Amino acid sequence: MSSWEQFTLEGKVAVVTGGTGVLGGAMARGLAAAGARVAILGRRQDIARAVADAIAAAGYEAMPLPADVLDEDSLLAARQALIENWGRIDVLINAAGGNRPDATVFGDLTFFNVPRSALEGVVGLNFTGTVLPIQIFGEPMAEQGKGSVINISSMAAQKVLTRVMGYSAAKAAVDNLTRWLAVDLAQKHGAGFRVNAIAPGFFIGEQNRALLIAEDAPSGSQDAPVLTERGQQIVDHTPMGRFGEPDELIGVAVWLASDASRFVTGIVVPVDGGFSAASGI
Ligand SMILES: NC(=O)c1ccc[n+]([C@@H]2O[C@H](COP(=O)([O-])OP(=O)(O)OC[C@H]3O[C@@H](n4cnc5c(N)ncnc54)[C@H](OP(=O)(O)O)[C@@H]3O)[C@@H](O)[C@H]2O)c1
Repeated sequence: MSSWEQFTLEGKVAVVTGGTGVLGGAMARGLAAAGARVAILGRRQDIARAVADAIAAAGYEAMPLPADVLDEDSLLAARQALIENWGRIDVLINAAGGNRPDATVFGDLTFFNVPRSALEGVVGLNFTGTVLPIQIFGEPMAEQGKGSVINISSMAAQKVLTRVMGYSAAKAAVDNLTRWLAVDLAQKHGAGFRVNAIAPGFFIGEQNRALLIAEDAPSGSQDAPVLTERGQQIVDHTPMGRFGEPDELIGVAVWLASDASRFVTGIVVPVDGGFSAASGI
């Protein structure tokens, strides 16, 4: 295999949970452009359909796959639909996740009164919502003895970010799961079944937009948006001095999904403009 051919995803089938979101959608488009057939998994059917249609309109193959990552029955139905249509599963990106306002330690909400339901909700979505899709979509990979799981972690797993207590702990658990499962799967199912993670730095998503941007630039203008105090702090602590663009996750996602990374398992790759390297001094 020539050096470039190792990166192709031709013949592979990929599922992207959170494919209806900003980062999952970008990675789904990237995998499709690299040759994979891509299933767009999320609860919002209309958005899943729109993302899949846009990929198809660009000349690649995609299908909407409505499911809830916390509902095993819906995941099992999604897996059945996927196998019936495309016959196999090679890649799973777990991008469903995020923080929620009622679990954010800010204003009147202190650590001491974070509601248990909010804590369990955020830990459940980010951790259990990663485990369940691996259990369900990973089974065919185990049978094939080959597959690539890519979890989406966060800088919050590595560095203390104020406010996001439960989210940070859940993403740290995702990092730990990535290493734990890499060992377990390689030992029990062979070297072809790999698990890695991407730790994005700061990107403007649907959920964090209001937290980071105070005022959008007028449409059509070249001006930068006005950032919130937190948004500005983030940019100040990112050596590259800006937020990430969702497409900037594609290179690592394609590499981890492809045979080019076939001796790589159990790692967490930061895509963060240098945030995790910087000490702040
Ligand atoms: N944006 C950032 O700066 C950043 C940084 C580090 C890590 N991350 C992580 O990257 C991932 C994607 O974030 P994003 O910024 O792209 O956020 P986003 O645009 O809000 O996307 C979140 C996605 O999660 C899906 N989702 C939520 N609950 C779900 C459920 N129960 N079942 C199935 N899907 C569910 C949503 O789909 P439906 O609503 O259609 O179900 C949506 O596609 C998250 O894990 C986030 O924690 C983001």
